[in-house]
Amino acid sequence: MGDAKKLYIKTYGCQMNVYDSERMAEALGGQGYEPTGTPDDADMILLNTCHIREKAAEKVYSELGRFKGLKAANPDLKIGVAGCVAQAEGEEIMRRQPMVDLVVGPQSYHRLPELEAKAGGGAKALDTDFPQEDKFDHLARRPKASRGPTAFLTVQEGCDKFCAFCVVPYTRGAEASRPAERILEEARDLVERGVREITLLGQNVNAYHGAEGGLAGLIWALEKIDGLERIRFTTSHPNDMDEALIEAHGTCDKLMPYLHLPVQSGSDKMLKAMNRKHTRDQYFALIERLRAARPDLLLSGDFIVGFPGETGADFEDTMDLVRAVGYGQAYSFKYSPRPGTPAAERAQVEPEVATERLYRLQELLGQQQRAAQDAMLGRTVKVLFEKPGRLEGQMGGKSEYLHAVHVHAPDAQRGDIRAVKVTESAANSLGGTLAD
Ligand code: 5AD
Ligand code: SF4
Repeated sequence: MGDAKKLYIKTYGCQMNVYDSERMAEALGGQGYEPTGTPDDADMILLNTCHIREKAAEKVYSELGRFKGLKAANPDLKIGVAGCVAQAEGEEIMRRQPMVDLVVGPQSYHRLPELEAKAGGGAKALDTDFPQEDKFDHLARRPKASRGPTAFLTVQEGCDKFCAFCVVPYTRGAEASRPAERILEEARDLVERGVREITLLGQNVNAYHGAEGGLAGLIWALEKIDGLERIRFTTSHPNDMDEALIEAHGTCDKLMPYLHLPVQSGSDKMLKAMNRKHTRDQYFALIERLRAARPDLLLSGDFIVGFPGETGADFEDTMDLVRAVGYGQAYSFKYSPRPGTPAAERAQVEPEVATERLYRLQELLGQQQRAAQDAMLGRTVKVLFEKPGRLEGQMGGKSEYLHAVHVHAPDAQRGDIRAVKVTESAANSLGGTLAD
C-alpha cells in the first residue's frame, strides 16, 4: 500500500457531481490513486465544479490560488478541473491558472486515466468533447467493497428544454439516457454491496427514455430487485411527468413519497419568459393529480426570484403559488445571468429588489418546511438507518419523506429500516422512539 498515490476531490454543486466524483475516484483507482480527505498530502487534486449560478468560475480560480503553495512544495502534484466550469471555460482555465495540468468536461470522464497519464511535468491535458459513447460504460466498474445504504445512480444527463436562465443544455449537452440494462446491472451491484436506497439522477430525469415506459418503466424494473427497498429520483420537469409516473407514486411501494418538482415562478408571464412551456394552472393541475395518486406526497421545488422582467405583481404570484401548493422543502435563488443563455442579455431586476424578494420567499418556504416537519409529530415513519448519531446508542437516517430522524436504537445496524414514532421536531431533524 505504501506507494499508493493520493487523490483529493472537492465536489461542488448538484448530486450528479457527487456521483461523478465517486466514479472518477474509482476510475483513477486503476491508476494507483487512493482517496484522501485533505489537499495537503495529495498527489492529485481534482475540483469537480458547478456552473449553475454566478461566480462559480471565480470561486474555482480562487480555490486554485490556494493550491499554489502545495504545487510549489510538490512539483509532481497534478491539479485538474472537472465538471461544468471545465466545460464552459475550457483552455481559458489553464491560461488563467497555469498550474492546472488537466481540464476535463463532464462527458469525458471515461478518458480521465489517459488524461492523468498525459498531464504533469509541464504537459497539459484537456478534453471537453461531447463523445457519442456512454462514459459510464467505459468507467471502471465500481469495486465490490461494501458501502453505505444509500447511493446515487445517474440515469440521464443533459437537457433539451432550454429554460432561458439555465446553462445545463450548454455544459451537459443534449439529453441522453443510459440503457436500462446497464442501470439495472449497476443497481444490482450496489444492492449486493449493501445499498438499500437508490436515488436516480438526471438534470431532467423524468425525460428518461432508455427503458420501455420511460422513467416509470425503469422504476418498475428496479422495484423487482430484491434487497432494494427504496427508490427516489431527481430532478424533474413538470412537462415530463407522464401518467405512468404519476400513477407509480400511488402503486409502487418502493417509490418514496417525496418529489422534487421545480416550477421556478408562479407568474404565467415569467414562466413564458423563462421558456418553461407550461402555465401555473397546468402546474396546479399536475400537483392535484399527483396528490390524488399519493395524498401524503411531500413536494419540493426550486424558485428563481428577480428574473428579468419580474414585477412586484409577478413575485406576488410566486408567493401565492407557494401558499397554494405547500412545500415540504424548497430551494430558492436570486436570478444570476449566465453567459451564453438568452436571459443574460435582458434588462436585469435591481439587485436590492431581488434580495428583498428572496428574503420574503425564503421566510415563507422556511415556515412551510417547519410546518411539514412538525406535522410528522405523533406519526410513525419508516427510517432507513445510515449512520450512528452523536449520542451513545443513537442512530440517524431518513424517513420516507426525506426528513432526517434520530432515534435511540442500540441494537440497530446501518441499512436497517425500522418503524419510528416521531416525538420531537428540532431545527433540522426529527427525534423519535423505535415503534417495532
Ligand atoms: N440563476 C438562478 N438560479 C438558477 N437555477 C438554474 N439556473 C439559474 C440561474 N441562472 C436554479 C433553478 C434550477 C436549480 C438547479 O438552479 O431553480 O432548478
Ligand atoms: Fe435547466 Fe432544468 Fe430547464 Fe433543463 S429543465 S434547461 S436543466 S432548468
